[in-house]
Amino acid sequence: MAAKLIKGTEIREKILEEIEAEVAEIKEKHGVVPGLVTILVGENPASISYVTLKIKTAHRVGFHEIQDTQSEDLSEEALLALIDKYNKDDAIHGILVQLPLPKQINEKKVLNAIDPDKDVDGFHPVNVGRLMIGGDEVKFPPCTPAGIQEMIVRAGVETKGAEVVVVGRSNIVGKPIANMMLQKGVGANSTVTVVHTGTKELAGHCQRADILIVAAGVPGLVKPEWIKPGACVIDVGVNRIGEKISEKTGKKIAILSGDVDFDAAKEIAGYITPVPGGVGPMTITMLMKNTLKSVKFRLGIN
Ligand code: GUN
Repeated sequence: MAAKLIKGTEIREKILEEIEAEVAEIKEKHGVVPGLVTILVGENPASISYVTLKIKTAHRVGFHEIQDTQSEDLSEEALLALIDKYNKDDAIHGILVQLPLPKQINEKKVLNAIDPDKDVDGFHPVNVGRLMIGGDEVKFPPCTPAGIQEMIVRAGVETKGAEVVVVGRSNIVGKPIANMMLQKGVGANSTVTVVHTGTKELAGHCQRADILIVAAGVPGLVKPEWIKPGACVIDVGVNRIGEKISEKTGKKIAILSGDVDFDAAKEIAGYITPVPGGVGPMTITMLMKNTLKSVKFRLGIN
């Protein structure tokens, strides 16, 4: 294998230790415990597993964690009232509403109702605008893009002047990571191209990339011949392609595959993230980091 593996599972441990230490210090000096509420509406299996992991991680770093689980038929009005309650609760520093939401609820309305100063997902239009401006205007970078940038930096990959190609233009990953990589500053200052379903010559763009970030949600979309030798390949895809029985627990678990043909790509790339164990663990880690940031903003200790 030519490529170095960038393991989110390893980077996560270092960052969580840093967060845990800061939480303990804030508790001691200021008597404040960071509070995070996770609102889950319904029983989407993927959402349940994400939320369970978020709660476990929040406990590990010493947060006060509220898991607010609501039934599938919750009305939009009731969810907005719940958000209003947490917006006004001083013990809560971060509010996360797990997406997707049931169809009777307008997602945009819900995200817009969260206090931008508690919006640790970074999805509120105010935080999207702050991200666009960049620099010290940014409060809460969205978690998956923030995790991607952290991985690139911690792997020691040069971003200044690098050709970055982003595959996918979602609001959660593609658009924000493209915006972050073009800003001035550490881990950025790149020349960025965004390609999507309307792009001609997808392969040609990818072949130019020094850093290829793939968030298309299409298993195996990126072929080995699309990768420039030595490139850094970040695979954001988490596609459920089947089920198997876990050797550890004996329970049924999903078989996951990324958007990149990993086995072939790792022979060509200089750096590559695995699926699972790559970008996935970083998203939850950056959620913890944003919640800690929220507390620090509130205490004026940034
Ligand atoms: N659903 C899938 N990814 C995310 C995420 O990053 N945040 C929230 N709130 N919901 C999600």
